[in-house]
Amino acid sequence: MTSAVVTGAAHGIGAACVRTLVQRGFDVIACDVEPLPDSVLDADAPDALDAPDALDAPDAPDAPDGPAVRGRVWSMTVDVAAADAPQRIADEVAARCGELDLLVNNAGIGAEGHFADLPRAQWQRVMDVSLTAPFLLTQALWPYLRKPGGAVVNVSSIHGQRPLPEQAAYAAAKGGLENLTRALAVDAAPHGVRVNAVAPGFTRTRRWDEWMGASGEQAEWNRREVARLIPWGAPGEPDDVAETIAWLGTPDGPPLTGAVVPVDGGLGALAFARLQYDDVNHTCVEGEPPA
Ligand SMILES: NC(=O)c1ccc[n+]([C@@H]2O[C@H](COP(=O)([O-])OP(=O)(O)OC[C@H]3O[C@@H](n4cnc5c(N)ncnc54)[C@H](O)[C@@H]3O)[C@@H](O)[C@H]2O)c1
Repeated sequence: MTSAVVTGAAHGIGAACVRTLVQRGFDVIACDVEPLPDSVLDADAPDALDAPDALDAPDAPDAPDGPAVRGRVWSMTVDVAAADAPQRIADEVAARCGELDLLVNNAGIGAEGHFADLPRAQWQRVMDVSLTAPFLLTQALWPYLRKPGGAVVNVSSIHGQRPLPEQAAYAAAKGGLENLTRALAVDAAPHGVRVNAVAPGFTRTRRWDEWMGASGEQAEWNRREVARLIPWGAPGEPDDVAETIAWLGTPDGPPLTGAVVPVDGGLGALAFARLQYDDVNHTCVEGEPPA
């Protein structure tokens, strides 16, 4: 049995990650503050029911006192920043898998606005979800991960190194997450455990839709202008990020640790391009290169 915990698993990159890992033979404990949609629970696992560890039939009703079980995806509704979340997830790992091969700390949130107006509570919430929860969860799951081949993949962002305007808390949390990745990699290496991060650029999730605007002329213009800034010519897909996570996270994955792998179509490699954020209507416009 090869097992993984994925946080923020109900949508976007986390959901793609669950599907990709199941296709690669992982059993996945999928954690999200929202219930998992069927499309994630029914991750493409044709052999799921043959797995000796499958605990329940795919259509079995949710256990009254436990997470839903379908094939090789077990869903847990949990806020990763809740005080009892690390222990609850660790208990689930103990009950379902006994040990763990991969932890994907994907759940992350931001708070938009000029730093001068950012309420302390919002700053704290971003830190709790996007930085403290990955630390506490890695700590709680360490007894299960601590073995040769164990891996942690943290989901950072292009903001981790190059912040866009009005994202102070998010950028600070992601920058912290990248250095946490390096620090944990150093401590984990003697045990044969790798700790890496991926840093997505613009990725087509619901967050992208919210930012660009769902439809209309303005949304089309936003999409076109942002795509024009990306050397690859288009935003990434959640599956692109999920593939990179799976590559880093498989027990026989690459001999990398403490790395932050960009999945951004070359945006982070680009000198001078600049996005400006119009704080009135939240449209993106291309800035001028510095003189
Ligand atoms: N989409 C992008 O362009 C992009 C770019 C860079 C980095 N990222 C990072 O990728 C990760 C996933 O983002 P996404 O774009 O897939 O977002 P998304 O909104 O599509 O999905 C995020 C998931 O995390 C869950 N979540 C949020 N707070 C949670 C909490 N407290 N506890 C448990 N689950 C929680 C949400 O319910 C949701 O299912 C985030 O860490 C984000 O910062 C995204």
